[in-house]
Amino acid sequence: MSEGSSKPVRIGLLGRGTVGGAFAELVAERGAAVEAACGRRPEISGVLTRGEGDFDEVLAGSDLIVELIGGTEPAREHVLAALRAGKPVVTANKQLLAQHGDELFDVAREAGVQIRFEAAVAGVIPIVRVIQESFGATEISKVFGIVNGTTNFILSEMASTGAAYEEVLERAKQLGYAEADPTEDVNGADAAAKMAILARLAFHTPITLGDVAYEGIETIQPDDLAYAKELGLSLKLLGVAERRDGGLSVRVFPCFLYGGHPLAPVGGPFNAVMVEAPAITEVTMSGPGAGGTQTASAVLGDVVSILAGDAPVSQPREELTVVTDVSSSFYLHLEVADRPGVLARIAQVLGDNGISVKSVVQRGIGEDARLVMVVHECLESQFAAAVEEIGRLEDVRSTPRSIRVIEEEFV
Ligand SMILES: NC(=O)c1ccc[n+]([C@@H]2O[C@H](COP(=O)([O-])OP(=O)(O)OC[C@H]3O[C@@H](n4cnc5c(N)ncnc54)[C@H](OP(=O)(O)O)[C@@H]3O)[C@@H](O)[C@H]2O)c1
Repeated sequence: MSEGSSKPVRIGLLGRGTVGGAFAELVAERGAAVEAACGRRPEISGVLTRGEGDFDEVLAGSDLIVELIGGTEPAREHVLAALRAGKPVVTANKQLLAQHGDELFDVAREAGVQIRFEAAVAGVIPIVRVIQESFGATEISKVFGIVNGTTNFILSEMASTGAAYEEVLERAKQLGYAEADPTEDVNGADAAAKMAILARLAFHTPITLGDVAYEGIETIQPDDLAYAKELGLSLKLLGVAERRDGGLSVRVFPCFLYGGHPLAPVGGPFNAVMVEAPAITEVTMSGPGAGGTQTASAVLGDVVSILAGDAPVSQPREELTVVTDVSSSFYLHLEVADRPGVLARIAQVLGDNGISVKSVVQRGIGEDARLVMVVHECLESQFAAAVEEIGRLEDVRSTPRSIRVIEEEFV
C-alpha cells in the first residue's frame, strides 16, 4: 500500500461506538494531513454496526478494515476474512488479540498483509510501535507498567482521600473512568489481556491470556494504603512480563512502589509502561489510558503507518516456558495481640523460612495492635509458607494481609 496514488484509501469501519465514532470524525478532520504525509487520503467507505451495513459489502468496498466492535465474535471472524482477502486490518481489540493472536498473526503472515493494534494496549502510549520497531533489534528483559486507567484512578483516589474501595468505584463510574460493569478492570483481567499482547511482542513467544496469572484490587483496604504511606510506598496495579529463571513470567498484581520509582507518581486514569533491556537500561512512557478521541488517534496512527508502508521488524519465534514461582518483596499487615515478644516470634517464623525484614511499623494498643512490615525479596512460595505459619500463631488475631512490593529504589 506504499505506492503514491491520488485515489483515496477506502476504510471499512466495523463498529461506530465510542472509538469508532471518534475515528470517523478524525478521518474527516485529519484526512488532508494524512494525504500530505503519505500521499493518499483516507475516507470511510462503509460502516458496519448491529443496525447498519452488511459485512461482505463493507469488505468488498474497502482497501483496509478498521475493527472497533470489541469482544471476540464476530470481530474475529471479520478480521480473519479481511486478512484472507488481502486487506490490512487495524484493531483496538485487546481481547481478540490476547485470545486469538496466533491465529490472526498466522493468517496475516500467510496473506502478506499487516494487522496493527497500537490502541489495544496502554491507550495513547505508542508502546506497540516502540517494541516492534524502535526496539526491534533489542533483547528486552522486562516490560511492565500501569496498563489499566480505571484501577489506577481508584487506587490514586483511595490513597489521597482515605475513602473505601466501593465508594471510590462509584465515583469512578460517575466520572466515566469505570464502566457500568467494571469487573474485568478491577479483577485484573483487562490488564492481563494487555500484558499477554505486550509479552508476545517483547519476547516473540505465543503467550495468550490463559498464561497470565492475575489478581485485582477489590480487596485492598484503606488502612493498607495509609500504613504504606508511612513506609514511603504507593500502590499500583502492575502488569509485569519478564525473563525469569530461563523462562518467562507474565503477571498482574497490586504492588507497592517506593517514591523514587518512575511509576510511583503516575496517578489518576493515566497509564505508563517501562521497557528494560541491557542495551537501553530503561525507558518509561506515560499518557492517557483510554478515551474515544485518544484511542481513535492511535487507530489513525496505525492507518498512517500502513499507508506509509512501514512494517514491523519480523522476529523468529522463541520458545519460552512460563515461570510461575518468582521472587518478590512483600508488605505484610498483621493484627496482633498486644503482648511482649510478639514481634520476635513473628520475626522468628520469617527467619526460619529464610525471609528477612526490611522495615516495620508498630501501631495501636490492646485489641487494635498492628504490625506492618516490608520483607526483602524471597520466592512467593517461601513467603506463602511463612504467612500460613504466622496466621496460625496465637498472637495473630485475623488473617494476615499481604501485597507485593518492588524494592528497587530509583534515584
Ligand atoms: N472506549 C475506549 O476508551 C477504548 C480504549 C481502548 C480500546 N478500546 C477498544 O475499542 C473497541 C471499541 O470500543 P468502544 O468503547 O468504541 O465500544 P462501543 O462504544 O461499545 O462500540 C461498539 C460498536 O460496535 C458495534 N457492534 C457491537 N456488536 C456488533 C456486532 N455483533 N456486529 C456489528 N457491530 C457490532 C456497536 O454497534 P451498535 O451501535 O449497533 O451497538 C458499536 O457501534 C473495543 O475493542 C475496546 O476494547 C476502547
